[in-house]
Amino acid sequence: MMAENDINNGIETGAKTAATRARPADPCCLVIFGASGDLTHRLLVPALYNLAVEGLLPETFALIGVGRSPSTSEAFAADLANSLPKFATRDIDQCAVKRVLSSVAYVQGEPEDNETYRKIGRELARIERERGTRGNRLFYLATPPAGFAPIGIHLGESGLAREDNGAWRRVVIEKPFGTDLASARALNHKLLGILKENQIYRIDHYLGKETVQNIMVLRFANGLFEPIWNRHHIEHVQITVAESLTVERRGSYYDATGALRDMVPNHLFQLLSLIAMEPPSRFAADAVRAEKAQVLDAIQLPSRDEALHNSVRAQYTDGYIDNRPVVAYRKSPDVAPDSTTETYVALKLMIDNWRWARVPFYLRTGKALRAKQTEVAIKFKQAPVAMFRDTPVDRLAENFLVIGIQPNECIGLEFNAKIPGPSIAIGGVGMTFKYEDYFDVAPSTGYETLIYDCMIGDAILYPRADGIEAGWRVVQPFLDAWRDAPTTGLATYRAGSDGPKEADELLARDGRHWRPIA
Ligand code: BG6
Repeated sequence: MMAENDINNGIETGAKTAATRARPADPCCLVIFGASGDLTHRLLVPALYNLAVEGLLPETFALIGVGRSPSTSEAFAADLANSLPKFATRDIDQCAVKRVLSSVAYVQGEPEDNETYRKIGRELARIERERGTRGNRLFYLATPPAGFAPIGIHLGESGLAREDNGAWRRVVIEKPFGTDLASARALNHKLLGILKENQIYRIDHYLGKETVQNIMVLRFANGLFEPIWNRHHIEHVQITVAESLTVERRGSYYDATGALRDMVPNHLFQLLSLIAMEPPSRFAADAVRAEKAQVLDAIQLPSRDEALHNSVRAQYTDGYIDNRPVVAYRKSPDVAPDSTTETYVALKLMIDNWRWARVPFYLRTGKALRAKQTEVAIKFKQAPVAMFRDTPVDRLAENFLVIGIQPNECIGLEFNAKIPGPSIAIGGVGMTFKYEDYFDVAPSTGYETLIYDCMIGDAILYPRADGIEAGWRVVQPFLDAWRDAPTTGLATYRAGSDGPKEADELLARDGRHWRPIA
């Protein structure tokens, strides 16, 4: 993301854009741990390719893959070249491929073995001498989470991540960052014992989505919304991350994790904090991250009983999605047949600050639902009096501002209008801005901005240690309450439905209802 001083205010035609002057990132060497994994092939290398096409990849760039399996630099380079066309989001241009894969090396080694880091050091020294990547190093930990602390510590202890002679050294950590508050704190503690905060980039791929980044622009680049963005005008907020995907082949990870840990402290809380944060003093990493952490810190912590009362957890049973039969979660590969892991969660949260006092935030996310739909819906208060005789206030359409994140990338406003005719009849209507109508954006993996930002040292889209811990602090009481009552309260829902009826009841209790899942 471009910081404030990079924005060119020149108005262009069409979508009236404030154009950015993006430059190629600094020369650097990217070292990927977990190089043979899915993430590298499906997302990271295709994202590097898109950066190359856009002219944003460093002109001097090298790639080192680190993995357990035996391979050679030539075989690894060939493997990446073969898989790129499969996963690329754009047509293949050989010049751009060459820029990504012009210098590829492979280091085989165990993440816990000192020798691995000596080998990486030798490769880096060679590349820096031969290619001139100026000592800038980006270490990307695309490994299972058990690798994060040991690799981070080895990078620190071996001196590979020490910043000197003006060279930068940065470490990207994938999710999940911890499995509860204590483990997230412990991981931060270990990493911060050996690396500086500004060297650590904790990735959340939701922040790579344009529609998510646009929430800040919507709020803070328009004078229109901020005056009404508070408890005086907003009645409640709904955040939905519905997936039609099932657990697929991720049973062993998912069964130990569940929907709450997998989605809430990271993706849903990123959405919540962007919607609810105070305006930062500057559009700069520390100012933005401080406000995001602060609003999470203002969320009320429920007692055990309140946590059970204000949460719904559920598992999907047999059903159909798009006319395809879907087997129940408990019958999925690598899932315990008596599993009590939730595949759906809904929460009611309250934020204790002046802006949001008494405005509930309802969050829900689940797998195997009717459709994929991520949206934030902001419900405004109704008109205060029944001015139109035949239409009492409670029969008016509700005023919603809906921010469609995916797959419908849009912003919609729902309001009341007079139905043409001699009498006053009122009906709900809508206005919708669709990204595709204004912007011609090439399909991307969602990782481009995040990788580029890391290469230019812009951490605005990367949560800081305090933000991560503030998220887990809110989730922890729910984890504790559920652990103490593992089976009571575990609801079910049919695959292909909108979720469990208990989630409807969570809102019905407050006289409200969820918006339908498309
Ligand atoms: C991942 C979760 O972080 O996000 C997955 O581990 C989930 O379970 C995915 O499916 C959702 O991402 P997206 O971008 O498809 O909404």
